[in-house]
Amino acid sequence: MALDKPYLDVPGTTIFDADQSRKGYWLNQFCMSLMKAENRARFLQDEDAYLAEWPMTDEQRAAVRARDLNWMMHTGGNIYFLSKLGATDGLSFQQMAGSMTGMTEQQYRDMMVSGGRSAEGNRIVGEDGNAQGPMARSAAWRAWEEAKAQESLAASVESAHSSVETKRPAGRARVTATVYSSHVPAIGAAIDLGKTAEPYWVPLFKGFEFSRQWEQENRPDVVFLVYNDHATSFDLGVIPTFAIGTAAEFQPADEGYGPRPVPKVLGHPELASHIAQSVIQQDFDLTLVNDLKVDHGLTVPLNLMFGTPAQWPCRVIPFHVNVVQYPVPSGQRCFALGQALRRAIESYDQPLKVQVWGTGGMSHQLQGPRAGLINAEWDNRFLDRLIAEPAALARLPHIDYVREAGSEGIELVMWLIARGAMADAAGGRAPKPVHRFYHVPASNTAVGHLILEESSG
Ligand code: DHB
Ligand code: FE
Repeated sequence: MALDKPYLDVPGTTIFDADQSRKGYWLNQFCMSLMKAENRARFLQDEDAYLAEWPMTDEQRAAVRARDLNWMMHTGGNIYFLSKLGATDGLSFQQMAGSMTGMTEQQYRDMMVSGGRSAEGNRIVGEDGNAQGPMARSAAWRAWEEAKAQESLAASVESAHSSVETKRPAGRARVTATVYSSHVPAIGAAIDLGKTAEPYWVPLFKGFEFSRQWEQENRPDVVFLVYNDHATSFDLGVIPTFAIGTAAEFQPADEGYGPRPVPKVLGHPELASHIAQSVIQQDFDLTLVNDLKVDHGLTVPLNLMFGTPAQWPCRVIPFHVNVVQYPVPSGQRCFALGQALRRAIESYDQPLKVQVWGTGGMSHQLQGPRAGLINAEWDNRFLDRLIAEPAALARLPHIDYVREAGSEGIELVMWLIARGAMADAAGGRAPKPVHRFYHVPASNTAVGHLILEESSG
């Protein structure tokens, strides 16, 4: 099993995890819309018309129309979201909770008054408590299930006639290589405006020629792409330190110049959810993001490594690190997160080849009278140490990045996440550096680039 879900055998209980959240995304978003009075009025006036505005499944719409909370939860709803629908109907939380138990309103109220339902016999499926029975279902849900059962019977008869079998391939996911690159917006603009052959840009793109070829020969299934959102999807309303994109797709953001003309990014929701669960259980508190527009921090490295194809050649899991507003996470925290990430990837039960990319940096300062700071010596030492002694490099305090590599040079802490995900950080063999490049300038920035392959064996 890809995910460790010890909560699946708690009777009469649905835990709202990343899989449920993904399933119920639009149902829950629809419920949230009912927090506005004018939306409640429109919904109550014409339910079908209002529901048609939301890209829910037919089953979710049917469950809403039936006001069957168990059914809605079955399709991914969460009670705090669904309660907005209940509130729209004038129900209290007690009425909503009670409606899922098969008891009458009065029976449920009486049970609560006399001390509530006992945990005795209700901890694990198969005990003898009073929450072990079948789930209360509306007639509408039962009718729906019956119709579905008929359909799937017909489908299995059909598939018995065809010999096609879809099997999940066996094996584990693994980290194959890590890639490091700066992510300057002007590089994206040069590509989008057809300026890559201009003398200013030629040496920069030359440094990535090897890399594009190498990617053709070492194509990953998934890139786990560590970058920072630059006040694009996250404003000052909420500032997550670490955020993982668990959605199926991510559109390029409009950073003020219009969205970049690059393909949309396809995610890997199952692997992302698995990584989220594994890494959070290893005590890293990730923020889960289903609604994320990706900015130059993510799209520019994709161009540098893959060129400008009509579709990106693999799935991409965006992973954001806050390096905009202090406090930002330490190098050591990032390195340890990379180690946890490797354990997460290696415990995924599909044989996916995963590259982990660290982006941002190298030295640059975009602000104040010190803008334009470049420290080539420090940058190159950083590259040396990233290859040879990453754990020691991770101990470098923030202030060194700021003093030596400029205020925005702090983006380099993100490279330590990718580096921590390699075998030697888990006691294995040292990686093989296959490409190294350094160039000044791209816009305000020193561009650094490395490819480290895992040693085989
Ligand atoms: C520049 C570099 C960055 O990393 C960034 O996020 C924005 C701008 C620059 O050099 O212009
Ligand atoms: Fe940046």
